[in-house]
Amino acid sequence: MKNIAIIGAGGFTGQELIRILASRPDVRLRKITSNEYAGKTLLEIFPALAVGEIKHLVFENHPENSESLKSMDFVFLATPDNVSMYWANALHGTGVKVIDISGAFRLKDKAVWEKFYGMEHTAFPLMDSAIYGLTEKYREQIKNASLIANPGCYPSSVLLPFYFLRDFLELFEESIIIDSKSGTSGAGGRKEKDSLGYSTVYENFRAYRIEAHQHQPEMEQEINNLSGSRFKVRFTPHLLPVFRGIYTVAYMKPKSLPAVDMSKIKNTVKAYLDKEPFVRFYDNPNDLQLKNVQNTNFADFSLHLDVHAGVFILLSVVDNLRKGAAGSAVQNMNIMMGAPETMGLL
Ligand SMILES: NC(=O)c1ccc[n+]([C@@H]2O[C@H](COP(=O)([O-])OP(=O)(O)OC[C@H]3O[C@@H](n4cnc5c(N)ncnc54)[C@H](OP(=O)(O)O)[C@@H]3O)[C@@H](O)[C@H]2O)c1
Repeated sequence: MKNIAIIGAGGFTGQELIRILASRPDVRLRKITSNEYAGKTLLEIFPALAVGEIKHLVFENHPENSESLKSMDFVFLATPDNVSMYWANALHGTGVKVIDISGAFRLKDKAVWEKFYGMEHTAFPLMDSAIYGLTEKYREQIKNASLIANPGCYPSSVLLPFYFLRDFLELFEESIIIDSKSGTSGAGGRKEKDSLGYSTVYENFRAYRIEAHQHQPEMEQEINNLSGSRFKVRFTPHLLPVFRGIYTVAYMKPKSLPAVDMSKIKNTVKAYLDKEPFVRFYDNPNDLQLKNVQNTNFADFSLHLDVHAGVFILLSVVDNLRKGAAGSAVQNMNIMMGAPETMGLL
């Protein structure tokens, strides 16, 4: 039985972690923290998540130091970036495995990190030991990791298809245009911000942070890890009037149109996906819909070539709170503890 703590359990991704972990026989939620809900039971605050023995688990204040966390096997950080930085550092070397859902440890370049996150990185030496938690790519490294930097939600929707497309990236010019739409739970968290909350987006649709979104360098870093090319990502995020789910469209220009053999590309991708439990390829673009992945750990994608315009198109969908956050975090935990990768997720 593995002991689990979730710091930031009252937020959107924290709640999703509780939902996934609550009924597992092989792990036990021992500590859930939220200053907002401290002293209240799970049943009082989130009745839908209150199942089995953890029904009466009481939210605690966020801890003041790491003492009470040292008896845990895993600590999930479902917290803002600066808070994750602090806790990853405090738990470093204690033997506790940390899975960080924030962006604190995703970028390997300190200057780029500080530019896009708008703060000083106070625990940068840990970056070397942080394994980027794109499970399908980094399975081997994840097995023995002590700190996982779980991918961002938008990058999850982009990088999973790109990973399976890796043999063909050299066919394309360096500029990649990525246009993503997210449900409001992907931007701003539980406490609604005026400009990003559901009430702003309801009966509305808008782009945001088009000049500098921190997921752009994350995508660029990881796409460039897949190929010898130096791709440049142009990323535009939008908010949809739904609660959860991300729909991404990526456009790439082939260097030579005749060199893009779609049946070869699709057959290669499908062969890779044979062994993948959560990543699914579709021939028909109409199959790419938020409702097919909402509340699941699936990542769906399709690939198309517009011969007229000379553009290659990738469509993909994920649930930002599942495959884009808590679901992949648990998938990583499963690997780290030697459990079946799909445990609790199918
Ligand atoms: N939402 C998504 O789709 C998504 C996807 C991937 C990654 N992420 C990342 O995951 C993290 C959490 O996102 P979210 O959407 O779950 O945010 P959220 O709903 O705003 O929840 C944030 C949580 O962090 C806690 N917190 C705030 N300050 C803290 C402190 N000083 N010490 C400890 N805990 C503190 C809050 O505690 P209280 O309960 O006391 O307020 C709350 O539980 C963020 O870094 C975000 O970028 C989010």
